[in-house]
Amino acid sequence: MTTRRAQFSTRLGVIATTVGSAVGLGNVWRFPYEAGTHGGGAFMLCYIFFVLIIGVPVICAEFIMGREYRSGILGCYRGASGGRRWDIFGYAGVIGGIMILSFYSVVAGWTMEYCVEAATGQLTATAAGDLHDSFTGFITGGRSVLWTVIFLAVNAAVALGGVKKGIERISNLLMPVLVVVILACCINSLTLQGAREGLTFLFKPDFDQLTPSVILSAMGQAFFSLSIGLGCMMTYASYFRDDTFIIVSAVTIGALDTVIAILAGIIIFPAVFTFGMSPTQGPTLVFEVLPAIFGQLAGGGFWATLFFVLLFIGSLTSTISMSEIFISFIGDHTGLNRRRSTLLTTGIAMVLGVLCALSFGPLARLNLFNIFDYVSSNILLPVGGMAVSLFVGWKLDPAVFQRQMRSGRHIPAVVTRAILFCLRFVAPIGIAIILIAGLI
Ligand code: PHE
Repeated sequence: MTTRRAQFSTRLGVIATTVGSAVGLGNVWRFPYEAGTHGGGAFMLCYIFFVLIIGVPVICAEFIMGREYRSGILGCYRGASGGRRWDIFGYAGVIGGIMILSFYSVVAGWTMEYCVEAATGQLTATAAGDLHDSFTGFITGGRSVLWTVIFLAVNAAVALGGVKKGIERISNLLMPVLVVVILACCINSLTLQGAREGLTFLFKPDFDQLTPSVILSAMGQAFFSLSIGLGCMMTYASYFRDDTFIIVSAVTIGALDTVIAILAGIIIFPAVFTFGMSPTQGPTLVFEVLPAIFGQLAGGGFWATLFFVLLFIGSLTSTISMSEIFISFIGDHTGLNRRRSTLLTTGIAMVLGVLCALSFGPLARLNLFNIFDYVSSNILLPVGGMAVSLFVGWKLDPAVFQRQMRSGRHIPAVVTRAILFCLRFVAPIGIAIILIAGLI
């Protein structure tokens, strides 16, 4: 059904691209706001725990499926099961992907607005006390809708450049720079007068806060941030070379992604307490706190511009990976060429994205933005993660599992056994309990 698939050319390219998918607004925007609304330290502890015991094994499972069956999520399930019984999880992944792409593009559009405002000096000129009103004015107005559309157009242009050239080059170049800038911002935040209070909020768990819904959100955040549960990593793995070392790649992605989320928290929370803001305000939090930070910095306009340009690029490497699920789904199953499938994907995302952008204004009652965010992260991704764990743990030929895990090398049996144990028992049972408890 598929012709020869493109492949990533270098080992670094594989890491840079998959980390590029994982690192993005999920770390810098979503993690701080979720941690903020769910009590800080306790949320973070659960989140790290889920990355370790569910996240890394599920990344391995997706990599194994993708590289063995060299297809998008639906094609992998069909290839591996030899039938259509698992189709529903393929479709769930594809639908989850387009939902995330839609609301994510709205926030990515906000970063574009901030690039412009920062470069023109407008952002840092706004007094901290006025940031809330000015940001609210922006997201309730028409400009944020326009940015959503522009962002998706840029995303389509990169996706049309093809797998190797477009995605790999951008990721290689810019992810390291993003990390350096984030580190610099952390150091600055640690000198703020609210640093102690902020760090206490982020790192000191208050176990009274641990309700089932907080635990569910922490699990959803882990899935979202690692780009797992919807076949994104599976699709990328279909472009892996045969010697890409699966376990090492999975651990690297989990570690880097988590570190960057924590660093984002270290930037945000000291500032939240310094500027007398509330950590619980939700999706708008980071966009009101960051300008206040840059506003008090020497050369703040420059730093703000650099930061938002990089954040924009970080978002782009993530949306490219989400789009890839849908693009490769359409390409594999309808015979449309890459150009057409990309345009179709973009068209659908634009319609839904505009509806999400309007959720902060005229469509506030419907609030598709929040619905898509909640349903994808807290339901679709965990269900998708459960499916792939069960599939690889129980149904996939054990010889395939072993061969893919080893990737042509020797690894200690205890490692493959531990991963298999997580996939068979820990992940599916854990996800099921948390989903049920959290949703009720
Ligand atoms: N992990 C990405 C981020 O943290 C978001 C994402 C989710 C990307 C799902 C692909 C698939 O920004």
